[in-house]
Parts: sequence; structure tokens; C-alpha cells
Amino acid sequence: MNPKKVFIRGIGSYLPERVLTNRDLEAMVDTSDEWIVSRTGIRERRIAADDEFTSDMATQSARRALEDAKMSPQEIDCILLCSVTFDMAFPATACIVQKNLGISSCPCMDIEAGCSALVYSMEVAAGLLQLGHYKNILVVASDKLTSITDWQDRSTCVLFGDGSSAMVLSTEASRAQAELVDTLLRAEGKDGEILMQPGGGSRHPASVETVQNRLHYLKMNGREVFKGAVRGTGAVLKDILARNRLESAALQHIIPHQANQRIIDAVAETFAIPLDKFVVILHRTGNMSAGSAGIAFDEAYREGRFAENDLIAFATFGAGMTYATALLRWLA
Ligand code: UT7
Repeated sequence: MNPKKVFIRGIGSYLPERVLTNRDLEAMVDTSDEWIVSRTGIRERRIAADDEFTSDMATQSARRALEDAKMSPQEIDCILLCSVTFDMAFPATACIVQKNLGISSCPCMDIEAGCSALVYSMEVAAGLLQLGHYKNILVVASDKLTSITDWQDRSTCVLFGDGSSAMVLSTEASRAQAELVDTLLRAEGKDGEILMQPGGGSRHPASVETVQNRLHYLKMNGREVFKGAVRGTGAVLKDILARNRLESAALQHIIPHQANQRIIDAVAETFAIPLDKFVVILHRTGNMSAGSAGIAFDEAYREGRFAENDLIAFATFGAGMTYATALLRWLA
């Protein structure tokens, strides 16, 4: 028996209001607008308010995706939320979003796969839908990365921002915008130490020492992440194209993780894909971890960039290290 087809029925995203520019950062650490733009492409990023949490941004993007799907929250029968900055260790932030949406009883769970988590969650949602237990799954990616950003570390603090994206995945084709054609996930745990937030878990529970040693902030070996990103993203993209007997020229749009323009340039060069096929928003958002790719996807959708039958590929990498790609065919 062929597995049921899975569709995207609603898409939404949310960016907080406050803008932090490279010039603002120049006043905070020893950096320059010129360095940040030339090394990353980032010019500004959005910062959540002090009392605005991952679940609040997630709720906003979820509401927009539901509105886009013309669905009420009651029609959602499962919530998956991905992040690296959950509201707290437990309960799951997905449960908080369920409460915010005014619904109850549907299963809710959090998924952690670094910046690849949206695509990971799309595959998990597709599998759950194909089991036949659910009809409409809300997948939300939300990160308040600035809550774990070390504002004294110029090598990381210039890179990140906050934001959220959401989509409704469904076995119902009516009013769907896109069909989920395929997903491919990968992880390399041996590379985990190049990108992590060491403090706060069972290995380094919060203590005076973990705070003094700044272990509750994001730590990164940027050069190694950069190399892994180009290699790993390229590999999953190549493999999903081969598995679907497609050439890269068949892709009309690539939705990359929004981390660094130079990473996107390198992937484009590897595949000889014209840069204008890549949806890039990082110059005005920075890297918003799991939320990034979905926000780029939503903005391109709302700008009318996708046409019927267009093939769209997500291509992401993140802490883990994780790598993930999804192929979509645009329907509407
Ligand atoms: O979601 C995944 C998250 N992470 C990523 O995607 C990050 C991937 N990596 C990168 O994007 C790049 O490696 C960075 C943008 C983080 C760094 O760029 P780079 O070209 O790899 O620079 P680098 O780390 O090799 O540093 C070059 C120089 C160093 O100075 P010296 O040792 O050559 O004197 C750094 O100290 O740039 C210096 N530097 C800075 N200078 C001004 C590092 N950060 C800054 C800064 N402003 N913000």
C-alpha cells in the first residue's frame, strides 16, 4: 500500500518588533558593520522583548498559519514544536502553545535537532499523519536565540536573532499550498562539540561555576560549523535529488538555513544553482535557528514567489550536527 500523501495547508511566521543593527552591536563589542556584512551578510536582526518568550512567538506564527489554512485551532490534532531555546526544560513548550491556542487534549511534544529541527519535524509529522491517527498536525519552529547569546562574545553575538515559523501539515489535499514530496535527515553526533549550550542539563546543572564559566551561553567553533554546513548541506541535497531522479536544475527555489551568506554562496556554487533561486532573508533577520528556514519560506510565499508545480527544496544544518532537506511541490 502506498503511504498517504502529505500536504502543507497553512504557512505563517512571526518576527519580533525590535531591530538590533550592526551599528548597535559596534557599541556593545569590538566589531564593525563592515566585518559582519563581509563575513556573514547580516545587517540587522530582530530581538524579542524581555517578556516575550519562545512560546509567545510560536503562538503568533501558529495563529498566522491557522489563519492561512482557514482552520480553527480545534481542528489541530497534534502539535510538534522545535527549538533550542524552549521556554523551560519541562513541560514541553508545545504544551504551552496548546494552552495559548485555547485547545486541549491533543498530543504535544518538543523536538530538538538544532537549526534543522523544522525539517526534522516535517518528517516526523509526515510519519505520524501516515499512521492515520491524525489529520492536521501543527509544526512550529521558534527560537529566542538572544536568550542564550553571550553579548560579550563578538564571534557569536553578531550572528543571532529571534523569530518563529509554523505550518499545518495534513493528509487533506483541499486548499493545500504544497505537497511534501520527500524528506531526508542526517546527523553526525561526533561533531556535537562544535556547537552547543553546555550548561543547564544533567551534565552541567546550573551552579555558581556554570554561571561564572558562562556555560549557559551558546558556544561555537565557527570555522568548523562553516565547513560542516557546506559539506553536510551539499550532501543531503545531492542525495535527495538523486533519490528522486532529479537534477539540481529542476529546483525552482531553495530555502536554506539563514546562517551566513557565504555558506549559501558555497552551496550555490557546488551545485551551479543561480543565487536568485535561494530565498535569503538573513541580511535583515540574522540566524534564528529552527525558525529561520520557515520564516524565509513564509515570506517568499506571501511575496508570491512560488508558482504551480514549482519544486522547492529546504536545505538546513544545525547543532548535532544535523543536516536535513525536504522537497515540496507547489500546488496553488
Ligand atoms: O545555525 C548554525 C550556527 N552557526 C553558523 O552557521 C556559523 C558558521 N560559521 C560562520 O558563519 C563563520 O565561521 C563566522 C561568521 C562565525 C566567522 O567567520 P570566519 O570568516 O570563519 O572568521 P574567523 O572565526 O576565522 O575569524 C577571523 C577573525 C579573527 O581574528 P584573527 O584571529 O584573524 O585576528 C576573529 O577574532 O575575525 C575575528 N572576529 C571578529 N572581528 C570583528 C570574529 N568575530 C568578529 C567580529 N567582529 N564580530
